[in-house]
Amino acid sequence: MSVINSSAQLDRYCVFGNPIQHSKSPAIHAMFASQTGQTLEYSARLAPLDSFVPSVQQFIAEGGKGANVTVPFKLEAYALANHLSERAAIAGAVNTLTFSDGVIVGDNTDGVGLVRDITENAKTAIVGRRILLLGAGGAARGALLPLLAQQPASLTIANRTISKAEDLVQLAHATKTYRGEIEAKTWQDLNGSFDVIINATSASLQSEVPPIPYTVFADTSFAYDMMYSDGQTSFNRYAEQAGARTRDGLGMLLEQAAEAFFIWRGVRPQTAPLFAHFRTKGS
Ligand code: ATR
Repeated sequence: MSVINSSAQLDRYCVFGNPIQHSKSPAIHAMFASQTGQTLEYSARLAPLDSFVPSVQQFIAEGGKGANVTVPFKLEAYALANHLSERAAIAGAVNTLTFSDGVIVGDNTDGVGLVRDITENAKTAIVGRRILLLGAGGAARGALLPLLAQQPASLTIANRTISKAEDLVQLAHATKTYRGEIEAKTWQDLNGSFDVIINATSASLQSEVPPIPYTVFADTSFAYDMMYSDGQTSFNRYAEQAGARTRDGLGMLLEQAAEAFFIWRGVRPQTAPLFAHFRTKGS
């Protein structure tokens, strides 16, 4: 989908992925463009698995101004960028590219999208709270710096493979900006409850739930699954049974897109109308 305009030289953007046909990004950016009165074109581009870089170069040659990058190319986009934002450098992955005067700038808007959805849309504070992050793969790593920037009282990272959680703890120490506690744990070592529990594992994709004890959830806890789904995700069902309030990742998807739009266009679109639209249509 694209925003049609009669002017010949539309600013062009796209999302690269493989597969890409189910991406909501073209519809999201078309809605942002119409909402903010911006004139642009945004398309979905299927990059062959072995040809991400040539696909980007081709798009730049065609006059592309920027691109989003989704599975499985975020690491290749990170390697391709000539310049990285701090949050992309810490994430080790790039989901937003900007092409400007021959320079490829890489950013990662996933983590800030998550934090904004929790703090602004779901009105749930992270500052001063006990946070449990489940998972230590790309999604968790992308969330790390924006979460720490909120200065939670503590951040516990739990993962099936403990060494990967320990690596994230080391990375967090290296940022030197976080003043609270940070620790790595296995599922079975978890004890006590947390204020905010974020599922950054890909377990929900297989309708599985990380085997965490019910006791991590208090009835005041807020549980967030980065995955989104038409119905309830398996993690959110589990959290609700334990008494927690829940939210899935639709808002994060919209917020990461809004941040990319802001980087490219200097205008911050509103996500609430899109949230209502996609929730009603089924996400
Ligand atoms: P992503 O980019 O989505 O984060 P990833 O980098 O492959 O994907 O990371 C997947 C994360 O989900 C990892 O933390 C993984 O645990 P391991 O590090 O032990 O592999 C976690 N994960 C995947 N399937 C899981 C499952 N069924 N139960 C619990 N954790 C799971």
